[in-house]
Amino acid sequence: MTTLLVRERTEADIPCCADALVAVHAVDGYPVEGVADPQAWLRPSTIIQAWVAELDGHVVGHVLLTEPTATDAAAVMWLTDHPGEHAQLAVAGRLFVHPEGRGHSLGRRLMQAAFAYAEDTGLRVALDVMEKDQVAIGLYEKLGLLRIGTAQHDDGHGNLIPAICYVTP
Ligand SMILES: CC(C)(COP(=O)(O)OP(=O)(O)OC[C@H]1O[C@@H](n2cnc3c(N)ncnc32)[C@H](O)[C@@H]1OP(=O)(O)O)[C@@H](O)C(=O)NCCC(=O)NCCS
Repeated sequence: MTTLLVRERTEADIPCCADALVAVHAVDGYPVEGVADPQAWLRPSTIIQAWVAELDGHVVGHVLLTEPTATDAAAVMWLTDHPGEHAQLAVAGRLFVHPEGRGHSLGRRLMQAAFAYAEDTGLRVALDVMEKDQVAIGLYEKLGLLRIGTAQHDDGHGNLIPAICYVTP
């Protein structure tokens, strides 16, 4: 029987998450910035909380919440229309599931864990997703996120990538 678990990330999970991220990048080109230093990418300085997903005891998936920054397009878009809500906003990101761990609803469960935490702590969640990441877009729409606009995401290599911005209702 397959066992599925989503739980808070610990420091010991970082190497497995980094390995999964490298595999995801090879298949999906996510993240568009590349994976030169995957462990550092998993530890943004603005982190609020991170979660991992296990499949049969192996860490295969990841998501985190951060405080909003000036480079988070969806957060900037929301805060432009809702000034003063900075302290009530979190940004979801670094969502991925290893290609071999997909199709078990772990992506959905990871997002639900982040949303539950946000709801418990009085936070709205904003996120942006590259237009090319259609499975993620389908997931966000099924989860009821509200599309608030589009943006151009700077991939750090001189390219602007079309993105879609969402917030929780
Ligand atoms: C997005 C991602 C995390 C989803 O992981 P997952 O564990 O396979 O997702 P789930 O099993 O929870 O499936 C989520 C939904 O997407 C749908 N889905 C899954 N794989 C799909 C596919 N290949 N094509 C179309 N729809 C698909 C499922 O129907 C599911 O909806 P349901 O729960 O109503 O059945 C994974 O595909 C991934 O890591 N993609 C690359 C990284 C990425 O794009 N991250 C998003 C950054 S914003």
